[in-house]
Amino acid sequence: MKFYNSVLDLIGKTPLVRINNITKQQKIKAPIYAKMENLNPGYSVKDRIGVSMIDWAEKEGILKKGGTIVEATSGNTGIGLALTAAVRGYKCVFVLTDKVSVEKNRYLKALGADIVVCPAAAKPGTPDHYVQTAKRIAKETPGSFYPDQYSHPANPAAHYRTTGPEIWEDTEGKITHFVSSIGTGGTISGTSRYLKEMNPNIRIVGADPYGSIFKTYKDSGHVPEPTPYLVEGIGQALPTVNADLTVVDEIINITDRESFEMARQLSRREGIFCGGSSGTIFAAALKVAKELDENSLVVFIVCDTGEHYLTKFHSDEWMKEKLLLEPQRITANLIVETKNGGAPSDLIFVAPTDTVAVALEKMSESGITQMPVIEDNHSVGSLRESRVLTKLLQNRDLMESPVADVMDESFPVLEVDSNLNEIKKKLQKSPAVLIEDFKRITGIITRSDVLELQK
Ligand SMILES: Cc1ncc(COP(=O)(O)O)c(C=O)c1O
Repeated sequence: MKFYNSVLDLIGKTPLVRINNITKQQKIKAPIYAKMENLNPGYSVKDRIGVSMIDWAEKEGILKKGGTIVEATSGNTGIGLALTAAVRGYKCVFVLTDKVSVEKNRYLKALGADIVVCPAAAKPGTPDHYVQTAKRIAKETPGSFYPDQYSHPANPAAHYRTTGPEIWEDTEGKITHFVSSIGTGGTISGTSRYLKEMNPNIRIVGADPYGSIFKTYKDSGHVPEPTPYLVEGIGQALPTVNADLTVVDEIINITDRESFEMARQLSRREGIFCGGSSGTIFAAALKVAKELDENSLVVFIVCDTGEHYLTKFHSDEWMKEKLLLEPQRITANLIVETKNGGAPSDLIFVAPTDTVAVALEKMSESGITQMPVIEDNHSVGSLRESRVLTKLLQNRDLMESPVADVMDESFPVLEVDSNLNEIKKKLQKSPAVLIEDFKRITGIITRSDVLELQK
């Protein structure tokens, strides 16, 4: 029989997968390989440290039968700890920030953990901060183990013992550049320490979100004021014990926009369905690889699965709300469905046989200054308040005339799947465009709707 004793035996030994389409398009000569940590049983790189920190606590006699693990986590370490806890019979309490995706929160609950959520905006060291809260809960819980992934030596040690050797062996020692993010710092510190021991010339590159302190701290020794960013699980407001930046040669800052764009591209163009931090790292890996030739070999970490972010950056609606969606993905349909905060709205229009008085009243009631004229689901003309008023100044009797007598030509009509660039082109010449689905006019997009997207 071929089987594993528990899911814990599936942790690690993740494969390297070559990036093909994106590198080809960008004319990158150096091969880039993804280390597929999303294939761990808890779908992230942090499964490795979940089991190693619990092994340590059991060996030290800190964690005993029925004990409780309490940890501050952006979700993935919690999942790694909870997997091990489920197999070995421990309870778990995890403290998350409200930035953590609902998917990770529910996943942790499904694995049997209790969850406490703290505000992401709380400053380090204050009582509401998620790390302080986890420390307090651990203190108040008898038989608890508080791993503290930010300083626990079993965190980088797991990567020194497993991730580093796996990459070295799978690349047959040919790796020249290793690119990783820095959250606790465990992955980059442990893996790089091993790789540098094998070959001190291997260049270690850290990928850090704009807003995190690591790049400035590494480059100047000064800890800057952090600012918020959207990528989860990486970057910090303060240096951590486990982020040993002496093994890191260079840190590259990456924007949220680039991180999500690259994670989405990895999914769509390489079939690697990953989280935002993998996008941050891949964006940095591409910048590094652009300067290299085919004799180099770049490995980057795919930290976790895209499934944790289906309601976040893998959703077009969320990306649009955050003003991060690529223009070619912003469709007419998406604009119409999500405008005015997504409130359901009916298209306001008049029939060519309605009177001008009725039309003006409709516009004033709805606070609009232009309106399509529609007959049998087809657009036959348009009304603009200012032009109608000019005509009325000349001839007040027009008030009781049919709209057909005063209307202008129809607004341009586009299909629901037209993209932002096509819509903008039409809006250069017309104040609004109409959207058509199955030959029915279903919505209108005005210049101000598009300006709203670009605020
Ligand atoms: C999604 C994600 N990416 C990357 C990391 C960073 O890994 P490390 O803490 O080893 O620096 C984490 C850590 O929690 C994470 O959750």
